[in-house]
Amino acid sequence: MKKAGLPPAAPGEETMAILEIENYSISYDGLKSAVDNVSFSVEKGEIISIVGESGSGKSTLLHGILGLLPRAAGSRGTLKVFGRELSAMSEKEQRTMRGEKMAIIFQDTGRYMNPISRIGRQFSQYLKVHRNLSPEQMHEMEVDLLQRVHLTDAERVLNSYPFELSGGMRQRVGIAMAMALQPELLLADEPTSALDVTIQAQIVRQLMELRSKYGTTIIVVTHNMGVASYMSDRIVVMKDGHVVETAPAEELISHPKDAYTKALLEAIIELDDERLA
Ligand SMILES: Nc1ncnc2c1ncn2[C@@H]1O[C@H](COP(=O)(O)OP(=O)(O)OP(=O)(O)O)[C@@H](O)[C@H]1O
Ligand SMILES: [Mg+2]
Repeated sequence: MKKAGLPPAAPGEETMAILEIENYSISYDGLKSAVDNVSFSVEKGEIISIVGESGSGKSTLLHGILGLLPRAAGSRGTLKVFGRELSAMSEKEQRTMRGEKMAIIFQDTGRYMNPISRIGRQFSQYLKVHRNLSPEQMHEMEVDLLQRVHLTDAERVLNSYPFELSGGMRQRVGIAMAMALQPELLLADEPTSALDVTIQAQIVRQLMELRSKYGTTIIVVTHNMGVASYMSDRIVVMKDGHVVETAPAEELISHPKDAYTKALLEAIIELDDERLA
């Protein structure tokens, strides 16, 4: 598959969408499309959920947006991030954009941590790259962020090695680190599915606060229609690599048009609204 190679957008386009995807496809093997002719765009400050069954192409699409597909994979169509065609950017430009403007939370963020380095050390190294803070300011910020993801014993967490924390605690550390960057665009792939429902609700609220405080644009992949409808402005439903329906969250939940969306909604285990409210 060829890459699109459009020139970068003119600078100073204030009203541009953060993400514009048009007739965009990804194939790992050049034969079958894991993402097939997808089109949607995301405005600054929007929260978008991508939902769909296992294997529908959600993570692949997220990796495409990040520019982190395997080398053998091919893409075609238009994918513009911050107004620039991703495939027209050099690897260095993509890396800089990722480092400065984007953050990612994976389902198992703990897997990406150094097992033989204490959390506090890793957190500080992370902050050092992006901010000019004194060690004291860094520590203060780390404690504050850990408390925001409800890790109340922040000092103990900072002094721990990753294996000394539970999976859910590591996940929350990863979320705190991503929040520390105050990214313009946050991509999250099943960020809360490893957490119990109460913690999940708290984390969802923290993510939403990022938007209200800093105008962060968020794209979240989730299996959980309850989370999707609670936190997002719009929902994108994927099946077999296609987008079958995109609509404002409330509309999609109350008047789903596509049969597959209806089936997904019928399949959800009722989430206790009290806990998410
Ligand atoms: N690295 C890879 N190499 C080859 N094929 C892949 C790779 N990653 C995913 N696929 C295939 O692409 C398709 C979409 O997978 P993807 O991981 O994007 O789905 P998903 O919607 O994120 O599923 P889940 O909800 O289970 O995480 C699947 O058929 C999968 O087997
Ligand atoms: Mg996935």
